[in-house]
Amino acid sequence: MKHLITILLSCILLASCTKNDPPGWKFPDMSQVPKTPEGDKIRFGKELISHTNVHIGPYAENPARRFAGNNLECGNCHIDAGTRPNTLGFVGVYLLFPAYSGRVDTIISIRQRINDCMVRSMNGRPLPLESYEMECIVSYYKWISTEVSKQVPEKYDGLRKLKLLDRAADPNLGRMIYNRKCNTCHAENGAGAYLTGNIEKGFDIPAVWGIDSYNNGAGMFRLITAAEFIKAKMPYYNADLTDEEAWDVAAYVISKPRPHLTGVENDFPDLNEKPVDCPFPPYADSLSAERHKYGPFTGLSGKFPK
Ligand code: HEC
Ligand code: HEC
Repeated sequence: MKHLITILLSCILLASCTKNDPPGWKFPDMSQVPKTPEGDKIRFGKELISHTNVHIGPYAENPARRFAGNNLECGNCHIDAGTRPNTLGFVGVYLLFPAYSGRVDTIISIRQRINDCMVRSMNGRPLPLESYEMECIVSYYKWISTEVSKQVPEKYDGLRKLKLLDRAADPNLGRMIYNRKCNTCHAENGAGAYLTGNIEKGFDIPAVWGIDSYNNGAGMFRLITAAEFIKAKMPYYNADLTDEEAWDVAAYVISKPRPHLTGVENDFPDLNEKPVDCPFPPYADSLSAERHKYGPFTGLSGKFPK
């Protein structure tokens, strides 16, 4: 009986997933990548997203290639190398750039956008714009975006929107949820776990805060982004949080210490472009950084994620 229910449930879930996928969505099939020099770049681009730490992490074999400052992999947030919808997917992203970036109030290239994640999510330094690694990541993006119609690329990436809370998200409530649903994997101290317990081998389970995590300038340090990601994918294998739990546990995660990026107060020079949940001043309104960090967001200045 139990099995039957599980099977039934998975069918319903599968059906609804398919229904919610963007029209024309097509998983990129890596076996179709041509066996050519360009194909090699595409495959290595995917490898860089999936095993970032091996090639450009703080313990990469070649010291000159140590660009990331933490042991995260791009794919820890851009799930399955960005091939899934609603978990920061990359399918179609190639078509979105060049694009306006409110953070610097100017048009940026896809390479500059990659480097934003290198400096913030990866707490590292930028990849040289003409480096082989950069070429390969862009080749991969280009290839997985080929099937996407130009009219709808924005539907392929990003996160599914959560209804906003009408109260502040609560790190104290979040701590209880974390200790019930997350610490078996990410550890009570947020540090995750290393393969064979050895930092040089990289993460088995990535850190969610602390010195080997993303820094305070990262998108994942903003409440709305973190809550939407967590709601979509965590707990891994069993993403069953209510919206409210996702908000509170995200608040707990971003309340914890992590690497500090200097100069974040200079981001978003046009304050009207600043995301509403940016956790550092100045703002176009006179409300507190605390309110912008945890909400409630109604009545605040700033942009909501698209
Ligand atoms: C800690 C999580 C995390 C990690 C690790 C990470 N990113 Fe991101 N990335 C994000 C988030 C969150 C966004 C959306 C940012 C926002 O909303 O401001 C994003 C956005 C992007 C975008 C723009 C996507 C779009 O649709 O506009 C690119 C390109 C990107 N990341 C590349 C990378 C690459 C390459 C790496 C590894 C070198 C990486 N990211 C590592 C969290 C992460
Ligand atoms: C079964 C183990 C497991 C559980 C339980 C789990 N996670 Fe994760 N989490 C992962 C793995 C593995 C990844 C990396 C995903 C990947 O690489 O595909 C991850 C990635 C993340 C990330 C993005 C990467 C980073 O390091 O910041 C966040 C944020 C996160 N988890 C938060 C949570 C929260 C909050 C909970 C509890 C609600 C939770 N996770 C429960 C295994 C788990």
